Amino acid sequence: MAGGMNEPDWSCVGAAWDEMRNQRMIPARTGYDPEFRAKLAEDHRELAGYNNYEYGRRAVEVLGEILNKDSRVLEIGAGPGTLTIPLAKVVKRILVVESYGMAIASLKKNLKDSGVANVEIREANWLDVGEHEIGGDFDLVVCSHFLWQMKDLEKHLAKMEAASGGYCAVIQPAGRDDMAKEVWTEITGEPYAGQFDPDADYFAYLILRRLGRLVDVQNVNYSMKRDFEQEVRYVASFIGRYAEVDSRVKEQIEQYVSRRGIRQETQSAVVMWWRA
Ligand SMILES: C[S@@+](CC[C@H](N)C(=O)[O-])C[C@H]1O[C@@H](n2cnc3c(N)ncnc32)[C@H](O)[C@@H]1O
Repeated sequence: MAGGMNEPDWSCVGAAWDEMRNQRMIPARTGYDPEFRAKLAEDHRELAGYNNYEYGRRAVEVLGEILNKDSRVLEIGAGPGTLTIPLAKVVKRILVVESYGMAIASLKKNLKDSGVANVEIREANWLDVGEHEIGGDFDLVVCSHFLWQMKDLEKHLAKMEAASGGYCAVIQPAGRDDMAKEVWTEITGEPYAGQFDPDADYFAYLILRRLGRLVDVQNVNYSMKRDFEQEVRYVASFIGRYAEVDSRVKEQIEQYVSRRGIRQETQSAVVMWWRA
C-alpha cells in the first residue's frame, strides 16, 4: 500500500516537511546589529568546542558501536567542526562537504587548534556533488543539525545512502521549545498559543520512519554555556524568525537573559542511524 509504514512515499510527508522546514529556515530578522551574522558565526565556532567538544563527543559515543579506527566517514554540512573534530579522533579519515566559506574558515581554525589532520574539506554544495566524485563506500555518511537545509529530504537521504557502503546517521537538535515560548511572551506580552512550532526539530524522527528508514535512535545530553552577549544573540537568532529583533526587542531579550542569569545548561540532541 502506498504510504505504508515501510514504503517510502514522499508525497504524503512532503507537505508536512515543507511547512516545518519553512518555519525552521526563515532567516532571523536581527536589524539591531549589521554585524550580527558574522558575530553569530564566531559564536558557533567558539561554542562548537565547548567543554572539549562535548556535543560531538556524546554523539561519537553513540556512533561508536558502528565505527572503528579504520572507518572512512563523509560528513555533510560540518559547520565549525562540532561533530567533525571528536569524530576525527576515532576514525581514519573524514571527507567534509561544506558550502559556506565562513563555516570553512571556522572549521579550519578549529581543526588547527585541535591538532586534527585527517579531515579533508571540499567546498561545495552537497546537492551538486556527483556520486562519481566521492564514491559510494564510506563506512558512515553523517550530517549533524543539517536536515532542515534540505528541501527534498528523500533526495538527500538517497544521496547519503548512495555514498555509503555501511551506515548513515543524522543528528538533530532537541529541546529549545521552552526558551522560544518564554521569549515570545516576553516580547509580545501575549502567552504563547501555537503561533509557531518550536518543537519542529522532533518531527525528523517520524518523517524518517515514514520514509522507510527504520532508524536506531538515542538521545544525548550535553552541556553548554554562553556568555551574556552570546546568549542574547542565540535568543535573537531563534526568536528573530518570528518577530523583528530591533533595538527595543534586543533590550527585552537582554532583560530576559539578565533575569534568567547566565548558567551552564543541559541541551539535548537525537542521534539516528540506519544501515544504508
Ligand atoms: C546548522 S549548521 C550545522 C553545523 C554542524 N554540523 C553542527 O552540528 O554544528 C549547517 C551547516 O550546513 C551547511 N550547509 C547548508 N546547506 C549545505 C549544502 N547544500 N551543502 C553543503 N553544506 C551545506 C551550512 O553552511 C552550515 O555550516
